[in-house]
Amino acid sequence: RQPWPGLIEAYREYLPVSETTPVVTLLEGNTPLIPVPAIAQRIGRQVRVFVKYDGLNPTGSFKDRGMTMAITKAKEAGAKAVICASTGNTSAAAAAYAKRGGMSAFVLIPDGYVALGKLAQALVYGAEVLAIKGNFDQALEIVRDMAENYPITLVNSVNPYRLEGQKTAAFEIVDVLGDAPDWVCIPVGNAGNISAYWMGFCQYHQAGKCDRLPKMMGFQAAGAAPLVHGQPVPNPETIATAIRIGNPASWELAMAAQSASQGSFRAVTDAEILDAYRLLAASEGIFCEPASAASVAGLLQVKDQIPTGATVVCVLTGNGLKDPDTAIKHNQSQFKQGIPAELKAVAEAMGF
Ligand code: F0G
Repeated sequence: RQPWPGLIEAYREYLPVSETTPVVTLLEGNTPLIPVPAIAQRIGRQVRVFVKYDGLNPTGSFKDRGMTMAITKAKEAGAKAVICASTGNTSAAAAAYAKRGGMSAFVLIPDGYVALGKLAQALVYGAEVLAIKGNFDQALEIVRDMAENYPITLVNSVNPYRLEGQKTAAFEIVDVLGDAPDWVCIPVGNAGNISAYWMGFCQYHQAGKCDRLPKMMGFQAAGAAPLVHGQPVPNPETIATAIRIGNPASWELAMAAQSASQGSFRAVTDAEILDAYRLLAASEGIFCEPASAASVAGLLQVKDQIPTGATVVCVLTGNGLKDPDTAIKHNQSQFKQGIPAELKAVAEAMGF
């Protein structure tokens, strides 16, 4: 058995790299496609449901797929520094890959709205972290201007190499299932990932690797759902800070993916997100971050539309450990503190 070489080596023929491209990799990709029977059971008829657990990438999110490509191409072009705006995960991935490639990294984040684990990562990977008094959309505008006016490479998903890397998740799903699934449910923020998946399925279809093309179902948080409403949201709000975005950069690409695949965009409430988040962890043993659970929340919302016999893949974009605050804050009922250090007290607290 060959060891996994990282996604650029694994899918080299589908990616814009040459023999001399200096590949910067942490052996990302090859994440598991895990069956989730407890969720399938909730749909109430014969369906197969899997999660693509991309939280198992080297920095804990799907961003590593895009970042191995973006940083590799930046290095190839001789870049010395990269910059991004981020709700957290992009900043962690950009920092890790930039440093591995010998570059410096600057990240702009919305002050107070980045999960603790992500902030810790960006700092420890050695990025310069600039927390701005504004939201992600404002940060993105600034870094786009920065990259136009200063010698620094932008590694947000408006950098086309990001989507090139991220499309490999679709390849991996087809390689495991033997064909594309019928439905793909995916959380949507800046709308790059849904666009990348669609690109991946279409390319694999053209290459004869799959017969089907999936329906792309994009789920946004109800307080940050511009693609559902058809207009930007000036002050997006959601517990799922990763997708707290009001004006997605890949708006057109995502709309094209939705219409070509006969899919749709829908909103899930924070309560639905938290229910799915707990269900995944406490029924399936899979801990994802709140934004990721939007895909499963969405699936459960539209479950009556799923044809019997269908195969569904929900994308879990990030690891639950990214956001320990939300995990602890929303599971207090199981947390019994201050118990005396004696058998009787412990047994009592356990309900004996
Ligand atoms: N899930 C997670 C965990 C994310 O971090 C993001 C985006 C998304 C879903 C949405 O993906 O933007 O391609 O539609 N996070 C970006 C960031 C914005 O800065 O880390 P998208």
